[in-house]
Amino acid sequence: MSHQKDSCLPMSDMAPVVKDFYERYPYPPPVENLDRYRASWQHPQKKRADYHLFWPSEPYRENRSILIAGCGTSQAAKHAIRWPDAKIVGIDFSANSIDKSSQLKRKYQLDNLELHQLPIERVGELGMQFDQIVCTGVLHHLADPDAGLKALRNVLKIDGAMHLMLYAPYGRTGIYMLQEFCRRLGIEANDEGIRDLVAALQLLPLTHPLQNLLREAPDFRNPAALADALLHPQDRAYSVPQLFEFLENGGMTFGRWINQAAYESCCGVMEKIPQASRLAALSKAGQYAAAELFRGTMLTHSVVAYRNDGPGGLQRPDFSGEDCYRYIPVRRADTICIQENLPHGAAAVLINQSHTFKDLVLILNAAEKKLFDGIDGNASVGNIISKNSDSPLPTDSSCRFFERLWHWDQIVFYQSKATA
Ligand SMILES: C[S@@+](CC[C@H](N)C(=O)[O-])C[C@H]1O[C@@H](n2cnc3c(N)ncnc32)[C@H](O)[C@@H]1O
Repeated sequence: MSHQKDSCLPMSDMAPVVKDFYERYPYPPPVENLDRYRASWQHPQKKRADYHLFWPSEPYRENRSILIAGCGTSQAAKHAIRWPDAKIVGIDFSANSIDKSSQLKRKYQLDNLELHQLPIERVGELGMQFDQIVCTGVLHHLADPDAGLKALRNVLKIDGAMHLMLYAPYGRTGIYMLQEFCRRLGIEANDEGIRDLVAALQLLPLTHPLQNLLREAPDFRNPAALADALLHPQDRAYSVPQLFEFLENGGMTFGRWINQAAYESCCGVMEKIPQASRLAALSKAGQYAAAELFRGTMLTHSVVAYRNDGPGGLQRPDFSGEDCYRYIPVRRADTICIQENLPHGAAAVLINQSHTFKDLVLILNAAEKKLFDGIDGNASVGNIISKNSDSPLPTDSSCRFFERLWHWDQIVFYQSKATA
């Protein structure tokens, strides 16, 4: 492991302040035990679903190079445990975070993990190119996020994929109000400041925009999480249009949302509003921007992005012709199929537990449930439909059902190029 010293790179005056903040309050809070995490990633279908989220048209492989940029205390170690055949490189400018990651590397003998104390802005110094870059919860803290994104793009292979998570503004309104409150009162990110802030939050009016978050994010009970949200020296947020502009300026192109149902005009409340057909007539980017405004409480945006000079980015599944019969549906992690206490006429209810909006509940009838049961990660859409030849659903409706499962984050497709 190399610990490179921060040097003379021209960073803004704020960068050392942000660095110092993470030295004192590493986030997420350090973990010592990854046994449960390792066990949760043993299932081959979970790994395949994760892979095809980024590369739907490529055959599954594990021997990738993955950069975890701004890895914090455990994210790089988690990826190294998850993908033993991949080469994982974690960088972070906080020595404390690298130290915590090194402890996990030693404990779990993660020979496939390399760690560097290095600012993202200088990632080019590694002299490496990566198949995948994961940068979640980081770029919005940089003095110049555009420069950070460009630096990452420069080390992404031409056919590589990036996973970015950035803050979203409207859902964070309460956070920005409290940040401003803390600034005005000179509340500092130290143990005393945080203790008093926790006490003040107990008295926060029940109608305050932050209350929703305090109720729904158990994370907030942790002092480091609270500091990361309310006392962070530097963060900004991106609305959907700002995010698209950010990607474009950084030479990247939008592939998909990690979870897309909340943004889609054909899912949940968005397909029920009287303006649904107007919404569906907008460009995809326009639909996503409208969904963010209507839903109101998105806290972050998580995207898959590709280089804009790459070999075509993400191929969205195409259900207009025969291609879809070749697609192999793979169930996504975090999805559950409920078969008890169902609404009248339903055979099952599908939920993706990583969704935060309660309307994203997909009700299946008996014919759809049979198709759903045929998904084993190997059978193609065509195979599943032909095994259910007694189904009352016409073939194209069956295809549309698989498309719906995809929109609702229940499955990804391996859009195999081989013929069925
Ligand atoms: C909110 S934490 C996120 C950690 C991790 N990505 C995750 O999702 O668990 C942000 C991390 O980014 C690091 N960071 C912030 N700015 C950075 C920069 N310019 N270069 C490298 N690391 C940075 C911080 O030290 C911190 O560990």
